[in-house]
Amino acid sequence: MNREMQIQSLEALYGLNQQGSAFLDETVTRSPIGRYTSQTRFEAERAAVFRGQPILAAHGSELPENGSFLTLQKSGLPILLTRDSSGRVNAFLNVCRHRGAKLVHDEKGCKGAFSCPYHAWTFANTGELRGVPHQKQGFPEIDKAANGLKRLPAVERLGFIWIVATPDIDYDFDTFLAPLEQEMAWIDMDQHVLVHVETVECRANWKLLLEAGLEAYHFRVAHKETVGPHMMDNLSSYHMFGPHIRSVLPRTSLPDLDMTAPETWDFRELANVVYTVFPTTQFLTMQDHFAWINVDPVAPDHTRIRLGTLAPAADITPEKAAHWTRNHAISKATLSEDFDICVDIQAGLDSGANDALTYGRYEGALDRFNAEIEAVL
Ligand code: FES
Ligand SMILES: [Fe+2]
Repeated sequence: MNREMQIQSLEALYGLNQQGSAFLDETVTRSPIGRYTSQTRFEAERAAVFRGQPILAAHGSELPENGSFLTLQKSGLPILLTRDSSGRVNAFLNVCRHRGAKLVHDEKGCKGAFSCPYHAWTFANTGELRGVPHQKQGFPEIDKAANGLKRLPAVERLGFIWIVATPDIDYDFDTFLAPLEQEMAWIDMDQHVLVHVETVECRANWKLLLEAGLEAYHFRVAHKETVGPHMMDNLSSYHMFGPHIRSVLPRTSLPDLDMTAPETWDFRELANVVYTVFPTTQFLTMQDHFAWINVDPVAPDHTRIRLGTLAPAADITPEKAAHWTRNHAISKATLSEDFDICVDIQAGLDSGANDALTYGRYEGALDRFNAEIEAVL
């Protein structure tokens, strides 16, 4: 999103506000509730979407040095991330190739090799099978090269670690990431540091949670105690780029713009931008930092959310520590308002009140997001 696009989006929103209008889609659409409740549907999503598409596994700083490792559960799989002695990031299934024990139990640490807790087969942090106790008699024919850890495609770009949760495939991350890098260059994401991150369990379908980040219709209602008063009422625009969505959410300073002097406009003071990175991540840019929201679907009605706050590396100072802590708390409080409502929605889906959820013309981005999922399925 270059400067020209930023100006254009503010001008368009300013004009809509002047007319007392909003950014409108053509029609009202409907989203069948089976999308949010069906186990069959969830399994299809897991195969095609969570395991077939690149997902964000972690921030690069969560593997801070060569030898660092991190274990996590993603897309229903136990995953081991490592940074090897060359600095390269690797992703593996965290499963021993002997009889399938969980290889690494610690959440994080620093190690060059991992010894299985069952019979002590040992694997390097590059995945190779290094040692098999009593190999000579017990496994006389073993092909060590064929018994390394199962590798998942992984790459570190934009400051984050991206994986595809399917072992032994080749994946061309360039095609996926190049448009994102171009679109988000203005944020300098890889110059940011993860200052806070936490995990939240939520009894709601993963799509409901992301849909909450795709419209401003609810701001003044659901967020009246938090960010609602600072944002324009029911005013936002969206733009698709590939399967991803850029939403521009203007602040209440929008009507005061000097339309004769766009060169003076400070875009980040005037609007938040939410990037919905298909399929399971949102980045929410604010004045001086951004939030990272990553959903990991566990079941149709259960999602594990990682919520992080990232600040510019140059602004990581003792004086600013409290500022970042406060901003993380504000993001958490605001998003929790959405998450709580999503839990209520999920609980009522099977009530028979609705056979579909209705998206008004303010909520067209929700229909487009679901259309991208349908296309992958
Ligand atoms: S299951 Fe890992 S060494 Fe046997
Ligand atoms: Fe919200």
